[in-house]
Amino acid sequence: MRGYQLVSGSSGVYQAEEARISQGVVENNHTGYSGTGFVNLTNIAGSYAEWTVRAGAASGATLDLRYANGTTVDRPMDITVNGTRVAAGPSFAPTANWDTWTTASLPITLKAGANTIRAVSSTADGGPNLDKITIH
Ligand code: GCU
Ligand code: CA
Repeated sequence: MRGYQLVSGSSGVYQAEEARISQGVVENNHTGYSGTGFVNLTNIAGSYAEWTVRAGAASGATLDLRYANGTTVDRPMDITVNGTRVAAGPSFAPTANWDTWTTASLPITLKAGANTIRAVSSTADGGPNLDKITIH
C-alpha cells in the first residue's frame, strides 16, 4: 500500500511519474520536482497522463496540478474526470523555465469508488511538464 492512499476520502498526492502515460516519458533532468521525477509529454495533441483516484463517496473536490512550462507560450490541456471534460481547463501559462513549477487548480466532481483523471495535451505543442496532482 502506498503512503498516499487513504482509507477513506479522496485527498492525496498522486505523482506524475506513477501515472499511466500515453506518449510521454518520466524524466528528472530539471530541478524542483517532487517525488522521483516528472512527466515530459510528447509535444503533440493527445499525449496524456492518467491517474486513478478513489473516493469514499461522491463529492466535489479541488484538483491541483503542479507543472512547469519553460516556453513563452501557454501549454493548454484538457482535463477529464471519468471521461467527461472539466469545463474550464487550465491554460498552463509559462513558468519562466523548466526548473520553475507552479500549481493550477480547478474544481472537479468525483464519484464514489474509482475515478479516472486524465490530463491531455490539447495542442501540437504538447502539455507542460507534469510533477504531480493533489486532490483536496
Ligand atoms: C525541453 C525540456 C523538456 C520539455 C520540452 C518541451 O526539451 O527539456 O522537459 O518537455 O522542452 O518543449 O515540451
Ligand atoms: Ca514535452
